[in-house]
Amino acid sequence: MAGNVLEEIKYKANIVDVIGRVVPLKKAGSSYKACCPFHNEKTPSFTVDEKYQSYHCFGCGEHGDVIKFVEKYYNLDFKDAVKQLAEEYNVDLSSGGFGGDSKYAKWYEINRDAALFFYKALRAGPNPGLDYLVKRELNAETCKTFGLGWADAEWHSLQHHFKETGTDEKTLLELGILKKGDKKNDDGTDNIYDKYRERVVFPLINTRGKVIGFSCRNLTGDPPKYINSDDSPIFQKKNYLYGLNVTRNDISKEDAVILVEGQMDVISLWQAGVKNVTASLGTALTENQAALLQRYTKNAYLCYDADAAGRKAALRGMDILYRAGFNVKVFHVTGGKDPDEYVKQYGRQAFLDLMKKALPFADYKIAVLLEGLDLDKTEDNIRFLKGTAAILRELSPVEADVYIRKVAETYHVSEGALRREVASGRKAGGERPRPKYEEPVPENEPGPKNERTAPAKEDAEGRAAQRSLIRIMLEKSAYVPMVKEYRDAFTDPAASRILFAILSLYSPDAELDMEALAEALEPGDAAELEAIRRDVIVAGRDREIFKDCVRALEKKQRERRLREITELLAVLDEKRDAAEIDQLMRELLELQKSK
Ligand code: GTP
Ligand code: MN
Repeated sequence: MAGNVLEEIKYKANIVDVIGRVVPLKKAGSSYKACCPFHNEKTPSFTVDEKYQSYHCFGCGEHGDVIKFVEKYYNLDFKDAVKQLAEEYNVDLSSGGFGGDSKYAKWYEINRDAALFFYKALRAGPNPGLDYLVKRELNAETCKTFGLGWADAEWHSLQHHFKETGTDEKTLLELGILKKGDKKNDDGTDNIYDKYRERVVFPLINTRGKVIGFSCRNLTGDPPKYINSDDSPIFQKKNYLYGLNVTRNDISKEDAVILVEGQMDVISLWQAGVKNVTASLGTALTENQAALLQRYTKNAYLCYDADAAGRKAALRGMDILYRAGFNVKVFHVTGGKDPDEYVKQYGRQAFLDLMKKALPFADYKIAVLLEGLDLDKTEDNIRFLKGTAAILRELSPVEADVYIRKVAETYHVSEGALRREVASGRKAGGERPRPKYEEPVPENEPGPKNERTAPAKEDAEGRAAQRSLIRIMLEKSAYVPMVKEYRDAFTDPAASRILFAILSLYSPDAELDMEALAEALEPGDAAELEAIRRDVIVAGRDREIFKDCVRALEKKQRERRLREITELLAVLDEKRDAAEIDQLMRELLELQKSK
């Protein structure tokens, strides 16, 4: 799991933000520029590349990724740099072999206990929560699967429960399960009470099965209809999708996900047999949620309410998903209903039939654009042409071409005019998507999207070097800081995760603790570690191996940088990016010299 923490950090901590905070960056072509913070200079030769999430100084040669920058700039070791970024960007390090996570283990445990308390209260006998769920036609199995519960109307039920279990009140307040009133009690003690009262409780459970928060609905529908846990170190709304703990396997199996607006929609569809569903908690879809979904499928259906808010959310959600590389389609349930009511009234098949007619990304946007336009009016015609062009520009040229013809034919607009309009606004190179991060995949999951495929042949040499370097670090931990310098060159996924775990466990005054290391790794990676220990023979040749491997990795790194440069040169504009081109050419020559 360890390597995924690293990926998560690198995904969330955009290098441009991190460096931009301490070094004034100037946009120059496709990258950013500044005077190098690591050596003295008057003209800027320090560049930050957002696409590759790397920095590079042409003057002093200093280069690396966001973690390396934080290490160097703040003078931290690897572990502390990771911790600093993790703290700033809300990344949970508990699975990364970092230790010190017992605090959060405790938090999960308390949340789980609270969820169980609410669940038992729901089952304990007649109560308004149960009546409500029955009225919403949810059966006992469904309530159990989603762990639904009831928070009664008393002010101290949960508080008393936790008093009995001897749970620290401070933690309960930190978790937001209990609240503290502004006024003290008459006897001078703090006025502490249950946050959730007279509400149906939807525990928020992550894909690792941990209860990370709660969303609680009142029975009247008066605002606020829901109150949710606040963001905390174990719960971030923007990283969470409701129901995935239950539905992710079905999403994988169906190779499609249906995104709905609310948790009631998720539960209701699931009960009706449409199981590949999830929802963000009533907010617009985020990039992180898209990245999370990517583990299960690349096909997304948005089924938001048909009202104005739902349509707007669908448009935004579509863009996020499209940019993340999804095939996106959109449909709305008809007749002013939400998916929950629709599937209850018309059943699963009717819902699936609607879904079959979902509109692809561009078609949906064009349909929305058309609403309120009258193509017989010249000015609306122009608006339509420009609007459509803007939509089609986001597509790949091949896709756009198909649509240009289709739109021209369907709406009787000039194909040539549309083609010119699309071409005129197209940016050279286009938007560059940032690299994706993938959440750690729990071990019991079938992981078709979890890369652990055989490496390509040409990488065999690099992979062998990476494995050998791991082996000699296991032999002598003194190699750890030296190997760390080549961290970027660890391109093999398993090797990079193992290296990350090693770096996070390393301390200069001891050999590596093999048991702790194995524990910090997913079973698959632990097996790979065992294989490395078994297969790579050191036999006193560690210095030689180190030198050979480093040479091999440096060669790989050089080749990679050459490819990057070639790619960059291909998209840069000779006039606008002249200075950057000049620098890249200089670097290219340097690299070729040292070959
Ligand atoms: P009903 O159809 O009335 O049962 O409600 P619903 O659960 O479908 O919710 P609705 O369609 O009104 O809203 C969709 C989602 O937005 C909900 O599931 C919640 O996640 C979120 N939401 C709605 N109201 C509130 C609110 O008052 N506060 C917060 N934080 N979220 C809300
Ligand atoms: Mn609803």
